[in-house]
Amino acid sequence: MCLYSANQFRIYVMKSSYFTIITLLSIVGLRYNSIGVNAANSDQSLLSTHFKLQNPPMPDAKRDSNLFQIINEWKYMDFEYPTFVERQLAIKNGDFIPKNNLPLGIDVYGNRLFITTPRWKDGVPASLVTVTYPTKEISPPVKPYPSWQAHSSPYNADCSKLISVYRTAVDVQCNRLWAIDSGIVNATVKLNQICPPKIVAFDLSSDEMLVRYQLPESQIKQDSLHSNIAVDIRNNDCSDAHVFVTDVWRFGIVVYSLLKNRSWRVTNYNFSPNPLASDFNVYGLNFQWLDGVFGMSLSNGPRSSDRVLYFHPMASYKEFMVSTDLLLDESLWTNGTVDTSKLFISIGDRGLNGQSSTSGIARNGVMFFTQVHRDNVGCWDTSKPYKRSNLGTLLKNSGNETLIQFPNDLKIDQEQRQGVWVISNRLPIYLYSQLDYSDINFRILRADVDGIIASTICNPMFESARKEKFTVVSIEEGQCY
Ligand SMILES: *[C@@H]1O[C@H](CO)[C@@H](O)[C@H](O)[C@H]1NC(C)=O
Ligand SMILES: *[C@@H]1O[C@H](CO)[C@@H](O)[C@H](O)[C@H]1NC(C)=O
Ligand SMILES: *[C@@H]1O[C@H](CO)[C@@H](O)[C@H](O)[C@H]1NC(C)=O
Ligand SMILES: *[C@@H]1O[C@H](CO)[C@@H](O)[C@H](O)[C@H]1NC(C)=O
Repeated sequence: MCLYSANQFRIYVMKSSYFTIITLLSIVGLRYNSIGVNAANSDQSLLSTHFKLQNPPMPDAKRDSNLFQIINEWKYMDFEYPTFVERQLAIKNGDFIPKNNLPLGIDVYGNRLFITTPRWKDGVPASLVTVTYPTKEISPPVKPYPSWQAHSSPYNADCSKLISVYRTAVDVQCNRLWAIDSGIVNATVKLNQICPPKIVAFDLSSDEMLVRYQLPESQIKQDSLHSNIAVDIRNNDCSDAHVFVTDVWRFGIVVYSLLKNRSWRVTNYNFSPNPLASDFNVYGLNFQWLDGVFGMSLSNGPRSSDRVLYFHPMASYKEFMVSTDLLLDESLWTNGTVDTSKLFISIGDRGLNGQSSTSGIARNGVMFFTQVHRDNVGCWDTSKPYKRSNLGTLLKNSGNETLIQFPNDLKIDQEQRQGVWVISNRLPIYLYSQLDYSDINFRILRADVDGIIASTICNPMFESARKEKFTVVSIEEGQCY
């Protein structure tokens, strides 16, 4: 059922959702020279640049390219200590409490996976760790990244070191690993901001820390939680990077410019949670998460100045978009004279129980997103309208309901044969009940991007569900079930 009121229902007829923002910006009259694309003659260039057709996915004789493969799985996390004695000592004095460690974020680069283990509770020895890929063992102990020394204890904390990292982002072309360190410990017990949140970056060749930027006090609210991060590189210039960090509890995006070594805070009403989508019922548990803006993915514009940021609050069924140029225009946010509220637009709705944590966009323009309430992974070909008939579901749960429980983070690698990576971690059970440590609780899975979408509506070779020549992007208020 859909409820609309006529004056809340606006339709933009456009070649693609990407164009919506261009038109919208020109309607509002902001002068963004870089996006002065002429809509009349852009059909061809659009087709041939952003949305060009892929070669048909090749059948793979060696393995099932249309399935998620388990890369690693754990009953509980174990750490690789320099010596056995040190590990025993850490357990004895409470520095390491195995059952309090929960993997949250995932990233991959070359032959390493990067996993975050935030300090939700006591007894987490390090919050950013790595394992080699592929591993011989399916449940390897994890190694603090870049070293044990880079991590501070939560007691007498050294704020120049890592405290509690939530998520990471890799900018492949610049060979860097970015991370958002929330500075918060005991998030589930008694929230304790022991250090300011900070953005850090490591050189993935030398594992040296390249950037350490503490968010200024004016950009941190009481009870802020900075927990997701995305990176935008302009014109292949590694010094001109911008980092987007979401404040999921106080509904903002902090934009950091590496070149300026400054940040500013962006707010919009679409960053707020939807109260109806805040009620979660999973694994026999009921809880309410009033989580705001969280999932972010960047489109692959031909020029980075054309990029849009797709985003969604965690407690929401909707997807939104905004021009990155808008976010990068510091004066717009610091001097605040232009009304920007309508430049963040809703592009569609995933329907009841469509909450998603994170998302990412592959080279073929397909967005992948977690489906935390449905224990699944969704996909959307960004050249089609964002509506349910164009949203695919990638896990065919043939009676196995425990393979992925709570897919919490998702990344797309930049390998030649592109992969989509998912980590599932049963977070609600960890937070509100009791994990069974004789069972597999955490899994990392990978699928080939082309293979996994081949027979779904997300395949860019398949036309939109209604074969529309021009797509209609509707801005809906009201829920559809
Ligand atoms: C976390 O909370 C527990 C229980 O309240 C407390 O014993 C512990 O000292 C806290 N840890 C930190 C680092 O604040
Ligand atoms: C960036 O700015 C921060 C203060 O906001 C300062 O502490 C830091 O040294 C600066 N970094 C560089 C590389 O200038
Ligand atoms: C904001 O406005 C002030 C005064 O009008 C100006 O000096 C400053 O450069 C502006 N800030 C930015 C970031 O544009
Ligand atoms: C579900 O999948 C997991 C991992 O492959 C396996 O260990 C488990 O036995 C499966 N359960 C069922 C009911 O098939």
